[in-house]
Amino acid sequence: MNGAEGNTPVLEVKNVKKSFGKVEALKEVSFEVHKGDVLGLLGDNGAGKSTLIKIIAGNHRADDGEIFLEGKKVEFSSPAESRAAGIETVYQNSPVCENASVSANFFIGRELCGRFPLFRLLKEGAMQKQTRKVMTDMVINVPSVKTKVGLLSGGQRQAIVLGRFFHWGGKLALLDEPFAALGVAESKNGLRFIKELGSRGLPIVLITHNIEYALQVANKFVILRHGLVAGKGLIAEVTADDLVSMITGAINVNQ
Ligand SMILES: Nc1ncnc2c1ncn2[C@@H]1O[C@H](COP(=O)(O)OP(=O)(O)O)[C@@H](O)[C@H]1O
Ligand SMILES: [Mg+2]
Repeated sequence: MNGAEGNTPVLEVKNVKKSFGKVEALKEVSFEVHKGDVLGLLGDNGAGKSTLIKIIAGNHRADDGEIFLEGKKVEFSSPAESRAAGIETVYQNSPVCENASVSANFFIGRELCGRFPLFRLLKEGAMQKQTRKVMTDMVINVPSVKTKVGLLSGGQRQAIVLGRFFHWGGKLALLDEPFAALGVAESKNGLRFIKELGSRGLPIVLITHNIEYALQVANKFVILRHGLVAGKGLIAEVTADDLVSMITGAINVNQ
């Protein structure tokens, strides 16, 4: 079964396999994410991390194995389906409408609408006010909620996407190298924000090649190596060297 009663994982990946032709990207992978987890998914280039995220998000279909979201078996055939089920996936480039303002992006698909121009204007004011409140609450720094998102930095865009997702009741965030295109200061800000969301109870899977980052924000880790889980556990119980050993194969639980 999926864990003890009352302790159903938010996400359970069970014996997932995926090959591309002769390349066995995922030989057999199982892990769980629980409420309150920020899970660092680590591994060398080509270990299978992105493939795993893409399978969970519905970009790829697994050849074998099962995925459970809050205890229910799911099989997404597109990212739109996983998003509708409450999973947000963030890659390097965040999905925002560059020509629209921060508040318009925040309310995208959920606009407070009005038939009459004056009414619409009032609603716009209400959306801006609500967005401003969330930005302040989550300490997302933007010049103004009226600023066009195209003018914001990569880090600010990511914060808007994740803040929006969390605000509207998202269940699970999958972040694949979210800092790859960000500078050091922005990455620090991003880490702070991930920590903040995690402490508010949003489960997050964070792929990063920066072990220090994982040590800073994650409470758990899963290491992939050549399509297999080469280690998993609590971040508090390992050192950076331990993680490197598992990533490079100096320690391998599968051998
Ligand atoms: N669409 C694809 N077609 C063919 N091979 C792929 C595809 N996606 C990934 N792979 C291969 O699968 C393996 C795992 O890749 P990937 O999941 O991107 O690793 P990671 O994200 O850990 O760097 C690699 O050998 C890669 O070349
Ligand atoms: Mg990758």
